[in-house]
Amino acid sequence: RAGRGGAGPGWGWAWAPPRCREHLFKVLVIGELGVGKTSIIKRYVHQLFSQHYRATIGVDFALKVIHWDSKTLVRLQLWDIAGQERFGNMTRVYYKEAVGALVVFDVTRGSTFEAVSKWKHDLDSKVLLPNGSPIPAVLLANKCDQKKDGSQNPSQMDQFCREGGFIGWFETSAKDNINIDEAARFLVENVLANYKRFPNEENDVSKLKLDPDPLRADSKSQCC
Ligand code: GTP
Ligand code: MG
Repeated sequence: RAGRGGAGPGWGWAWAPPRCREHLFKVLVIGELGVGKTSIIKRYVHQLFSQHYRATIGVDFALKVIHWDSKTLVRLQLWDIAGQERFGNMTRVYYKEAVGALVVFDVTRGSTFEAVSKWKHDLDSKVLLPNGSPIPAVLLANKCDQKKDGSQNPSQMDQFCREGGFIGWFETSAKDNINIDEAARFLVENVLANYKRFPNEENDVSKLKLDPDPLRADSKSQCC
C-alpha cells in the first residue's frame, strides 16, 4: 500500500531524497597552437566539430555537467588556453586552482609532441595540488584520424608518460569523436580520487566561480 512508510502528515518523519554531492573542478586544456584543444572541448561539450580554424585568443571557457553516479554531480569547468600563451606570462593566472589538465598534441606535427614536455613543465612549475603534488595530467594524441608524423609506438608512449609524470594517454580525434569521453572520464576519476584523499575547499562549488575576466579574479598577483 502506498501509504505505508510514506511521508504523510502524522508519521513523525518526512522522506528526503538521498544527498547529492556536487563538485566543481577546474580543468585546463593546454598544448601548442592548432593541435585541436578548442575542437576537443566543442566535441566533448556540444557534440560539434568544424574544420574551420580560428585561433583562441587568451583563454576561453566551457562547462560540462556530468551525472557521475546517483550521488555525485561533477561540473567540469574547462579552461581552453590558447597555444600561443606558452610564450606569454599569463599561464600562472590561468592555471590557478586547477585540479586536472589535458595536454594535447597533434599526431600529424611532430613539433607539437616535442612541445608537450615544455607545457608539462610550465604546468608543474605553476600549479600544484593542496598536498604539493602535481595536478593529474592526461596526454592526448589528437587528430588520430589522420596520418601520423613520427613513430611513437604504444609502449614508447607509456614510457614517455611514466617519465613525464602523465597519468595516462589517449589517441583522440575531435573530428571522428574518438576517445574524448574516455580521456575525460579517466581524468575525472583521478581528480575525484585526489578529492577523496585530500578534501579541500578549492573545488567547493560555492568558492570556485567562473569569472569571465581572470585578471579581475586575481588582481593581487597581477601585473601588466
Ligand atoms: P589554438 O586556439 O590556436 O591554440 O588552437 P587549438 O588547439 O584550439 O586548435 P583548434 O581546435 O582550433 O583546431 C585547429 C584545426 O585542427 C582546426 O582546423 C580543426 O578543425 C582541426 N582539428 C582539430 N581536431 C581535429 C581532429 O581530431 N582531426 C582533424 N582531422 N582535424 C582536427
Ligand atoms: Mg583554440
